[in-house]
Amino acid sequence: MNFPKHIAIIMDGNGRWASKRSLPRIVGHQQGVKAVRTVVKACGAMCVQTLTLFAFSSENKNRSSDEVTLLFKLFLTALKQEVKKLNKHNVRLKIIGDLSLFPKNVQKTAIEAQAQLANNTGLTLVIAANYGGQWDIAQAAKQTAEAAIKGDISPEDITIEGFSKYLSLANEPAVDLLIRSSGELRISNFLLWDVAYSEFYFTDTLWPDFDEAELNKAIESFNHRDRRFGARKETQCYYQES
Ligand code: IPE
Ligand code: IPE
Ligand code: MG
Repeated sequence: MNFPKHIAIIMDGNGRWASKRSLPRIVGHQQGVKAVRTVVKACGAMCVQTLTLFAFSSENKNRSSDEVTLLFKLFLTALKQEVKKLNKHNVRLKIIGDLSLFPKNVQKTAIEAQAQLANNTGLTLVIAANYGGQWDIAQAAKQTAEAAIKGDISPEDITIEGFSKYLSLANEPAVDLLIRSSGELRISNFLLWDVAYSEFYFTDTLWPDFDEAELNKAIESFNHRDRRFGARKETQCYYQES
């Protein structure tokens, strides 16, 4: 089995999972955290290098203020609760996105959790919070312009490699496999630059029901993909001159 080095997941369907059971949406989000635990553990065991999880998009702030507040609270509780366990499993944590939207206590906990896990050498867990692929490209362009104004770089340095150094996933391997749960067939402003050559896997399973078996199905599908990256394998030529 060929394991992807970097898996990214759009964890969608928490609300529908709850509605199907006539429960408040937040219960779906709470169950979603359990699925995160399962997937982090499984990826660690498979020696996946990086797992990037879409937890809150830059557009999710447009939901009801009740849901947004509850999601911030859940993020805070989960961060506090999980740090010890993540540390025990040698997981490094990286949070990407515009955290300035988050309450101060969430920002503080996020900084502390990342610092506490910074020297770990196992799985890198990236949490995308108030993240948008368009935001990421715009903030990288801003940093590039600032570096050019300071004279640290010249226009010739603005190459694909040079520019990507300013993106949030700069130091991570390329995203091999992008998974989206809940049957939606769109990217919803998640990673844009970084999925240039990722393999996509969509499942109808709602995120709280996503488990190790579902992850294995996605990896199995990944193993049957012919990744050509625009090139072609040399084919034998059967034409013979007479
Ligand atoms: C994904 O589940 C979690 C977040 C976006 C925070 P949703 O809340 O989008 O669930 P559905 O799509 O309404 O079922
Ligand atoms: C994408 O799901 C964001 C996350 C999973 C965090 P959404 O539920 O917000 O996406 P749309 O609105 O269906 O595109
Ligand atoms: Mg959704």
